[in-house]
Amino acid sequence: MNPPAIILRSVSKSYPGAEVVQAVREVDLEVASGEMVAIVGKSGSGKSTLLNLIGTLDRADRGQVILHGKDVQRVSDLARFRREEIGFVFQLHCLLPHLTLLDNVALPLQGQSGAIALARTALERVGLAHRAKHTPVKVSGGERQRAAIARAIVNKPRILLADEPTGNVDSDNEALLLTLFDELRAQLGMTIVVVTHEPTVAARADRVVYFKDGRIERIEARPSEREEIEAGHEA
Ligand SMILES: Nc1ncnc2c1ncn2[C@@H]1O[C@H](COP(=O)(O)OP(=O)(O)OP(=O)(O)O)[C@@H](O)[C@H]1O
Ligand SMILES: [Mg+2]
Repeated sequence: MNPPAIILRSVSKSYPGAEVVQAVREVDLEVASGEMVAIVGKSGSGKSTLLNLIGTLDRADRGQVILHGKDVQRVSDLARFRREEIGFVFQLHCLLPHLTLLDNVALPLQGQSGAIALARTALERVGLAHRAKHTPVKVSGGERQRAAIARAIVNKPRILLADEPTGNVDSDNEALLLTLFDELRAQLGMTIVVVTHEPTVAARADRVVYFKDGRIERIEARPSEREEIEAGHEA
């Protein structure tokens, strides 16, 4: 068996300030390679903070974050590690306004040879090849979100972290993204952690983590009875 893609061991994170906010409290979680996990919970419960800790964008106060067997505290070049191993779709899409979608998507490749071709392939994957030369303000919100996803996967990272990727997209876009997630797992073995408010997105995950006040309240496993759920919807 491969080691788990993600291991969190008693991970905590607080934000300092006049009133200290304990955003994540002693969270333990393992995500298997190729698994899709959804994190759901109320606004302010710490979901984005947790995702940032997994994505090494933020550092835990206590505990360990281990990605594919590597304790991120011990990684010497964290920026490079992140670039190679992790794709991140932010809650706000964070595209650069003055660059075309194509150039935005190519950014993580840092000018490596063939970057533009790879960026074009990623845009095709999210159905945006025809908008490659547009800047973010010239496309719709759903298209911006899809471009942000193209940017996150352009490197074919082993771990994809997505914070409300379907936050402001319609049901067609949502279906497209869910299909894309399935393809990324099937074709590239990607591990996906997605924060979502959408039951349809959560229903697609292998497990749903219910987050409350910085802790895991409970985890619901959804073994491959997806057909059963879908059949239930049709009934
Ligand atoms: N940079 C920060 N400084 C101080 N407090 C913060 C910061 N970022 C988040 N918080 C606080 O930490 C807690 C967890 O925030 P977080 O963004 O992780 O929640 P969330 O579950 O992602 O919420 P939402 O669903 O609204 O995106 C909240 O109480 C929030 O106000
Ligand atoms: Mg959030």
